[in-house]
Amino acid sequence: MTTIIEFNGKISADACLDKIIHGDCLEVMRALPDKCVDIVITSPPYNLLNSTGNGLKKNTNCGKWKNAAIKNGYAEYEDNMPYAEYIAWQRACVAEMCRLIKDDGAVFYNNKNRVQKGLLEDRSEIVRGFPLRQIIIWKRSGAINFNAGYFLPTTEQIYLLCNKAFKLAKGANKNTDVWEVKQEMKNPHPAPFPEALIDKIISSTTGQIILDPFAGSGTSAVCAKKFGRNFILIEKSLKYCEMAQSRIDGGDWRHGLDAPRGDSKKPV
Ligand SMILES: C[S@@+](CC[C@H](N)C(=O)[O-])C[C@H]1O[C@@H](n2cnc3c(N)ncnc32)[C@H](O)[C@@H]1O
Repeated sequence: MTTIIEFNGKISADACLDKIIHGDCLEVMRALPDKCVDIVITSPPYNLLNSTGNGLKKNTNCGKWKNAAIKNGYAEYEDNMPYAEYIAWQRACVAEMCRLIKDDGAVFYNNKNRVQKGLLEDRSEIVRGFPLRQIIIWKRSGAINFNAGYFLPTTEQIYLLCNKAFKLAKGANKNTDVWEVKQEMKNPHPAPFPEALIDKIISSTTGQIILDPFAGSGTSAVCAKKFGRNFILIEKSLKYCEMAQSRIDGGDWRHGLDAPRGDSKKPV
C-alpha cells in the first residue's frame, strides 16, 4: 500500500520516494535538499474564489456556478487569498520547485489567465525572473461564458521552467506547443488534471523522479507509474491524500466522495 507520511518538519528525499506527504507544500519543499527531483508537474489552486464582478464567490449557490464543484473551494483550502498574497505565495512555491530540480530538470507549472475587474490578469507575475523556456497552451473543450465582455476562454497555460541542460525525450520536439486535451469528467476531486495531459508531459521527458507539490487526487503519480517513473506527492488535505493513495493502489477511489464535477458547466 502506498504510504502517507505525516510531515513533522524534517524529511529526506529518499524517504519521500513513491510516497504521499501530508503537509503544506512550501514547508515540505523547504525541508528537501537542492536538486533532488528531475521533473515537477503541478497545478496549484487558481485563487478562483477571490473574484471580482460576476466571478465565483464563496458560498455561491445559484446561476452559472451551481454545477461547479470548485465553488466550495477544496476540502481544506478555501482558494481565496488577496491577489498580492496569492502571487507572493505562488512565487515562493515556484522558487522551491526550481531549487529542487536537477541541472537537466524542468518544472511544468499549470495555471490559468483570468479576467478581473474587466482586465486580463495573466500569470506572468508568478513566473517572472524564473527560467521560463516555453508556454504550452492547453486547449480544453468548451465551457459556458456568461460574460458579454469577452470571448469564451478555453485555454490554460503550462509554463515550462527549466535548467539549461533540460532536453525533451527523443522525438518529442515534433509535438507542437498547443495541446488539445479534454478536461477530466469522472474524478470527484474539484479540479483534477486529465490523465492524458500528464501522460503527454511524462512521455515527452526522461526524468525519473516526478514531484507534484499540489497533488490533489494523485494524477501525476498514477501517470508516473504508467511510465515506470518514481513520484513524490505533497498534499495539504488528508482527504485527497487518501483519495490519491487508493487511486494509486488500484482501489475504489471514487467511492464515498462528492459527485463528479460536471465539467461542461465549469465556470470560465
Ligand atoms: C488544482 S488542485 C490539484 C489537482 C491535481 N492536479 C489532480 O489531478 O487531482 C490543487 C490542490 O492543492 C492542494 N493545496 C492547496 N494548498 C496547498 C498547500 N499549501 N500545500 C499542499 N497542497 C495544497 C488542494 O487541496 C488541491 O488538492
